[in-house]
Amino acid sequence: MASQLLNGAAVAEEIKRGVAARVKELEPRGIKPGLAAVIVGDDPASKVYVGSKVKTCQSLGLHSEKYELSAQTTTRELLALVEHLNQRDDIDGILVQLPLPKQIETRRILEAVDPAKDVDGFHAINVGRLVRGEESLVACTPAGIIELLDHYQIPIEGSHAVVVGRSDIVGKPMSMLLLHRNATVTICHSRTRNLPEVARQADILVAAIGRAAMITGDFVREGAVVIDVGMNKATTAGEINRIFPDSDLPKRMEDLGKRGYTLVGDVEPRTVAERASWLTPVPGGVGPLTIAMLMKNTLRAAEMRRG
Ligand code: GUN
Repeated sequence: MASQLLNGAAVAEEIKRGVAARVKELEPRGIKPGLAAVIVGDDPASKVYVGSKVKTCQSLGLHSEKYELSAQTTTRELLALVEHLNQRDDIDGILVQLPLPKQIETRRILEAVDPAKDVDGFHAINVGRLVRGEESLVACTPAGIIELLDHYQIPIEGSHAVVVGRSDIVGKPMSMLLLHRNATVTICHSRTRNLPEVARQADILVAAIGRAAMITGDFVREGAVVIDVGMNKATTAGEINRIFPDSDLPKRMEDLGKRGYTLVGDVEPRTVAERASWLTPVPGGVGPLTIAMLMKNTLRAAEMRRG
């Protein structure tokens, strides 16, 4: 049986409506939550992400500022900007888009962000709080995935969740959130032996590896819930024909003609949709949730910081 789609875009709209309503309530008290987004260098994908974060702020009534620094920026220069933003009372959230150019010491930058303004949840203090199960600002993508599962009332407690990918941004925090919800969690990665066999044990399978269509039907138990965190590009007709179900092909080929690529996750929909009970689409699944949760984190940081 074909899987049903988990409509991340719709859940993201609902989250954003909630944020906008709360922002309106804060207005008479003279509070306007503010986000500063910092991007270093010219990576086109990063520019698109940051642009869409700033635009979403504007549409929800949040204050936002975008800082675009040259690819030659030094660690010291970026630290100075972060320090400045830490001091600003009207800035509640600071987001430094990753990855940073290689001359910049990423860890030092992330640790320089005031943990109370760390809307990405990347600071060691917030990661530590997350691991302990304490209140903290939590990385947006994994937090959004939990909201999505809850929205569709997919049971987490007692389930076997398999997370493929161990990044600091998604895999590790995702695993912690699932663990705190009483899932049994397995974390897999590039050195995992018999990955398909391990993945097939999952009731909830989270694919966050960053390799186009790597998770095929062979990795999925009949009836599993599959969450696709991937954001990759398919650039040839052959690839598209292999990855997507026939029903999807006209739209995908149109993408290819217009833009030279179509977005593909870490999951191969053609084979996985045959086996999963629920599947997130790409685009329109996890991506919009990440941005919605950034808005929610910025609001939360403002509420915590300004009472
Ligand atoms: N790069 C990829 N994902 C993210 C994210 O969630 N936050 C930031 N700051 N950079 C990213």
